Amino acid sequence: MRICKYNFKIMILSILILIIAFILLIIAVIQFFNIIFRGYAPLFSTNKVFIKKILEEIDKNQNYNIYELGCGFAKFLIMAEKTLPNSKYVGIEYSFLPYMLTKIKLKLIKSKIKIVCENFLKTNLQDAHIIYCYLIPDVMEKLSQKLKNECSNTLIVSYRFSIPNIKLDKTINFGNNKFYFYKI
Ligand SMILES: C[S@@+](CC[C@H](N)C(=O)[O-])C[C@H]1O[C@@H](n2cnc3c(N)ncnc32)[C@H](O)[C@@H]1O
Repeated sequence: MRICKYNFKIMILSILILIIAFILLIIAVIQFFNIIFRGYAPLFSTNKVFIKKILEEIDKNQNYNIYELGCGFAKFLIMAEKTLPNSKYVGIEYSFLPYMLTKIKLKLIKSKIKIVCENFLKTNLQDAHIIYCYLIPDVMEKLSQKLKNECSNTLIVSYRFSIPNIKLDKTINFGNNKFYFYKI
């Protein structure tokens, strides 16, 4: 009887491991497809220590509409919500799996962050006060044009890659890591 229970536990554990491996494989294949064929930024996350430093730059006496373009697991928004609970948050993520996993996470932590599964180049950013992004240089040209067309009184923070044709306000360096700040 005991051996039977033991075998059952091992079977359940093996199934769980297989499911997790399968999900990770799907994420890897989708990421590979997005990076190679769509020119998307890979799913690397911004370090929490850096996010904390960026949030220190924001005036805490106001409420904002804050967007994270290509939010992945929405780390920036989740940390920002803890600091500025009365602001409104929107994360835009094109890849379905990170989007779905983040949506579930946000439900579990009872967050008010809204997450949308779409290409951020199609998102209306007119009401954005603060925009955070960590992308790749290829998309910056198109993003630059969009920001200039839609945004005003907006603070834009880009990790690692500068945004062309927008006047740089300042940069912040953490070792080899650079954050570009713009005000449109
Ligand atoms: C380098 S990761 C950054 C993730 C997150 N912002 C962070 O800093 O931790 C870039 C993310 O942007 C997403 N992405 C890239 N281009 C996109 C687009 N045009 N529309 C929506 N999401 C996009 C990718 O799927 C990826 O999850």
